[in-house]
Amino acid sequence: METPFTLQGQRILITGAAGGIGSEAARICAGLGADLVLTDIRPDIPIAEELRAKGAKVETSAIDITDRAAVERLVREAGALDSLVANAGYVVWDDWEDEGWDETFRRIMDVNVLGVFHLVRAALPGMAARGAGRIVVVTSVAGKVGGVRSGPHYVAAKGGLNAFVKWAARRAAPSGVLVNGVAPGPTISPMTASQNFDSSGIPLGRMARAEEIAAPIAFLCAPASSYICGSVLDVNGGIFMG
Ligand SMILES: NC(=O)c1ccc[n+]([C@@H]2O[C@H](COP(=O)([O-])OP(=O)(O)OC[C@H]3O[C@@H](n4cnc5c(N)ncnc54)[C@H](O)[C@@H]3O)[C@@H](O)[C@H]2O)c1
Repeated sequence: METPFTLQGQRILITGAAGGIGSEAARICAGLGADLVLTDIRPDIPIAEELRAKGAKVETSAIDITDRAAVERLVREAGALDSLVANAGYVVWDDWEDEGWDETFRRIMDVNVLGVFHLVRAALPGMAARGAGRIVVVTSVAGKVGGVRSGPHYVAAKGGLNAFVKWAARRAAPSGVLVNGVAPGPTISPMTASQNFDSSGIPLGRMARAEEIAAPIAFLCAPASSYICGSVLDVNGGIFMG
């Protein structure tokens, strides 16, 4: 393996690319040589222009990942993908006694679980047919420890994703496709901007910067991680040591 930390020539689809971690994943992957297909429910993906200005090949699209037909169209139109980074996620900082909570529960499950299933189901056959591919699912430490500040819907959704990574990894491995996850701890991004996290509970004493989550994501797309299969990497400053 000559250059295990390159993404040169790879075509990578990243969801949630308008957000904190997705933008940084795009930046690092492009820096390592990848061509990108960036998507988000938001029509504007600011990182795209920045990366194009530096010479990267970047396509963008706006879809809601809970829309199965839209996901399948996107993946079809994206062509031969080397990696999929299923990063888009959704949290609501509420209480399960709140009025209308069941609706919030359904939306959180739809975005964080069903949306990821749509993506993986759509991307796997093409990768399997080519005998190679990487799928990286962004889960959360919340799904491992029961949440730092998040509620039961998000905790259950991300715990479900941690399990799903293993299901998908077993299914995909025989065809040469590696499925893994990254489980971030509290990370500075628009998602957490309204919350106060007590850093004294984090062994490293601070929240993560988005690029500190993005780098392990890129690693799981790179040749360097060719024997990692069904892992969910703990990237949480020591909150949880698996
Ligand atoms: N920030 C944290 O502390 C933290 C911790 C653990 C896990 N995570 C996970 O990391 C991932 C990225 O989070 P972030 O911190 O960058 O948050 P973010 O809110 O900055 O980015 C999430 C992005 O997902 C997009 N999105 C939401 N719903 C969507 C949908 N239905 N279809 C398409 N796109 C949709 C949003 O528009 C947003 O741009 C998420 O899966 C999140 O759950 C974040």
